[in-house]
Amino acid sequence: MANAAEGAATKGGFRAWLNKRLPVDEFVQSQLVGYYAPKNFNIWYFFGSLALLVFVIQIVTGIFLTMNYKPGELTAFDSVEYIMREVEWGWLIRYMHSTGASLFFVVVYLHMYRALLYGSYKAPRELLWLIGMCLYLALMAEAFFGYVLPWGNMSFWGAQVIVNLFGTIPGIGPGLVEWIRGDYGIADSTLNRFFALHVIALPLALALFVVLHLVALRQTGSNNPDGIEIKAKLGPDGKPLDGIPFHPYYTLKDVVGVGVFLMAFAIIVFFVPTFGGLFLEKPNFEPANALSTPEHIAPVWYFTPFYAILRAVPDQRLGALLMGLSVLVFLFLPWLDRSPVKSIRYRGWIWKLAVAVFTVSFLALMYLGLMPAEGTYVMLARIFTIAYFAFFVLMPFYTRVDPVKPVPERVTYHA
Ligand code: HEM
Repeated sequence: MANAAEGAATKGGFRAWLNKRLPVDEFVQSQLVGYYAPKNFNIWYFFGSLALLVFVIQIVTGIFLTMNYKPGELTAFDSVEYIMREVEWGWLIRYMHSTGASLFFVVVYLHMYRALLYGSYKAPRELLWLIGMCLYLALMAEAFFGYVLPWGNMSFWGAQVIVNLFGTIPGIGPGLVEWIRGDYGIADSTLNRFFALHVIALPLALALFVVLHLVALRQTGSNNPDGIEIKAKLGPDGKPLDGIPFHPYYTLKDVVGVGVFLMAFAIIVFFVPTFGGLFLEKPNFEPANALSTPEHIAPVWYFTPFYAILRAVPDQRLGALLMGLSVLVFLFLPWLDRSPVKSIRYRGWIWKLAVAVFTVSFLALMYLGLMPAEGTYVMLARIFTIAYFAFFVLMPFYTRVDPVKPVPERVTYHA
């Protein structure tokens, strides 16, 4: 008994000691317990915390991979083989990292799609959305550089195709390509700088954007499936009537999402790590070979919607431009959408149809980007490219005439 009491006193003592020097309790109280989030979050709201989790998994597994990976055109491929066969648990670390890369995009795409469903990018959250887009662009760069590192044949040829795209920029193009590669072709110097960018520059940028993203979120507060601002209806205590403390309610709810996610993650890592060639492609099990082009050069599935747009256009310059625009167009979403209503629940049939067309086009382009660029595939890619851009370009018009429904004053919540 005496010992337990003594222990508690020491614990309390340490806590007091710590809080005097670092405001831990104050932070938890003001940022987690004192932060009120809408009470009607659904499963779409799991993906932000899951993105954070995958980010941590990628950093930790990445650190361990870097301990044995050797950048360099003569060493990279063999060092990955060494990790897979000789390093204790190396295979697990590598499969966790490669699976994590794909699942990062699954999670982030669903996270962005939620924003589309509930109008989370609209005022007052435009900046939150823009910082999210910076995260997305940095994530794309991070994934691309990482994909080149194993120096497999698809790494090599993928880098070749993507870096050459910069050559289509008028005037500076050819010089820029040489500057990016640091050589006249994709070479040792290219691999070394991509390694530096992959392990230091982009993770730092991602970490910075994550912090900014969360600070911006804290400032406006979360949106919710009804698209109603909960800050507009405060109780006598000054707290939102439709809000609940983030901690413990959502910290606990997020644990459920984490559990389900980790199960799916483990099943892939242990049973289907290549995911039928989608997460780790077949040609990448062969070393880079400048004299042998893979039969179909295709990026990993998360880039294929944009790659399909590139190949759908006969003129390479225009194709590269449209491919760039197909990603950057998301930046303008807060201003293209002129609807007075945020959530799809209270929007009219025109918006629902438009979102359906966009969803089908994105998924179809994703599939077509994995297929060879010939015949019907190219024809279909052209049709879906037009539908994809129509969704954005026509948005200012159809969102104004969409027959929206009245938005209730309070959120709908079924316990
Ligand atoms: C590393 C990547 C990312 C991380 C770690 C991350 C993290 C988070 C977290 C923890 C939340 C709050 C929980 C939630 O609403 O799910 C959130 C909200 C949000 N994020 Fe992200 N995010 C990332 C990428 C993105 C991207 C790429 C976009 C869009 C381009 C984006 C847009 C948003 C928006 C609009 C919200 C507010 C949603 C709402 O309140 O309805 N995020 N993010």
